[in-house]
Amino acid sequence: MKVAAEVCPKCEGTGWRPVTNGTDRRVTRCDCRLQERSQTLLAAARIPKRYEHCELSEFDTHFHPSLGPALLAATKFVEEYPLEKTGLMFVGSLGVGKTHLAVGVVKALILKKGIPCLFVDYRELLKQIQNSYNDSVQVTELELLRPVFETDVLVLDELGVMKPTEWVWDTVSLILNARFNDNRTTVITTNFDDEPAAGVVRSISPARAAARSETLGDRITERMRSRLHEMCRVVKMDGEDFRQKFRSASFR
Ligand SMILES: Nc1ncnc2c1ncn2[C@@H]1O[C@H](COP(=O)(O)OP(=O)(O)OP(=O)(O)O)[C@@H](O)[C@H]1O
Ligand SMILES: [Mg+2]
Ligand SMILES: [Zn+2]
Repeated sequence: MKVAAEVCPKCEGTGWRPVTNGTDRRVTRCDCRLQERSQTLLAAARIPKRYEHCELSEFDTHFHPSLGPALLAATKFVEEYPLEKTGLMFVGSLGVGKTHLAVGVVKALILKKGIPCLFVDYRELLKQIQNSYNDSVQVTELELLRPVFETDVLVLDELGVMKPTEWVWDTVSLILNARFNDNRTTVITTNFDDEPAAGVVRSISPARAAARSETLGDRITERMRSRLHEMCRVVKMDGEDFRQKFRSASFR
């Protein structure tokens, strides 16, 4: 039951307010309902507290030449969605702002377009999948994964950071492939270089192979890496760790 103080004065709580244009009288959705929807979608997106501040408008591009094009890709993606549903994959080292841009995209899609989005940390997703198997009541636990399959835009943060067991990986593949087949958008961040898996690189000396750091292909299989190239535009980001820079600046 609504108390009097909560009733919107513009629409008197109906959610519709009249607009008059000359003799033409229509109704339009009231701002209070649009705001209500935004609030609901923001809560449902489960953006972690620590990233709540991340906005595209707050992203500073002057630290490295790769950041301007990365912000542009994010902004364009928001503008063109849902006409263009290809996602984004932000690739780069620690603290260059990958998660910031991914969260910025989610907030802009919700606030400007009312699109349902969901933020999922890769570690958390693996844990959730694991739990769905541990539990005797599998069906209800799998229900928990439904939003990951069905949300319009999924952010998968820190892809590859952990290597799941084979059967957990099967579910991750299932999720990503189902989203691809259903034409749903996935936005990814990863620390691993978007390069092939070890077995795929031929003519590499044993010494170089030993020194070589793990690639995205190593972490998620070459097959999935190639699937992600169909699902996402790769956005490479470079620069210093923003957190380190910020910390050292405050000591000066
Ligand atoms: N160019 C930038 N402008 C403004 N804030 C930034 C920028 N880059 C990073 N930040 C801020 O620095 C912090 C670290 O950035 P973020 O978490 O997005 O990095 P990341 O690339 O996802 O790092 P990691 O690989 O560790 O996940 C965040 O609080 C973010 O808001
Ligand atoms: Mg991150
Ligand atoms: Zn209203």
